[in-house]
Amino acid sequence: MFPTHHEGARTPTVTTGATTGSDSNGRSDRSPSLRRIAMRRIEWKDEYDIDIGAIDEQHKALIALANAMDEAVENGQDAEIVEETIDHLIDYVAVHFASEEAFFEERHFPGLEAHKREHERLLRELLELKEDLALGLVHVAREIVDWMWRRIIPHFLEFDRRAADWIARERRRKKLHTSRDDVAA
Ligand SMILES: [Fe+2]
Ligand SMILES: [Fe+2]
Repeated sequence: MFPTHHEGARTPTVTTGATTGSDSNGRSDRSPSLRRIAMRRIEWKDEYDIDIGAIDEQHKALIALANAMDEAVENGQDAEIVEETIDHLIDYVAVHFASEEAFFEERHFPGLEAHKREHERLLRELLELKEDLALGLVHVAREIVDWMWRRIIPHFLEFDRRAADWIARERRRKKLHTSRDDVAA
């Protein structure tokens, strides 16, 4: 099963507009490094497609949830709401990893174990970021957006793409065998 949204999350949309990087209510952390992070809202790009529709949809949903979290911060939402968006994102990352692993396992992808280990590493990093709550929710939310750029987007491009390419090659190989068998029959 490939859930493409998180239950309870408000309808996520992939934001395409750039942000100003400034906070409307003045309550946010305004250090230069955090402002820089806030300006890097994630936009979906065609190059992120790994050409497996169900997985691409989940990747888009992940970006949408990160943007929903970022927007909650930008709009000066209450801490409770910001924390909810952080939790939705973390939960959804876990859901996505589990369903992606099941998908690869069903197709006997030989790199599954290494891929799983990378997922575990990523999830651990994400949970550690949430532990920095003492520095404030705004800080955590922005660190997570930065982490998405540094870790999740490259994961789509490297690990997920590699698995998808292997699956596509296998599919072509099997098709070729089937059509050869048909000719021989
Ligand atoms: Fe993925
Ligand atoms: Fe993955």
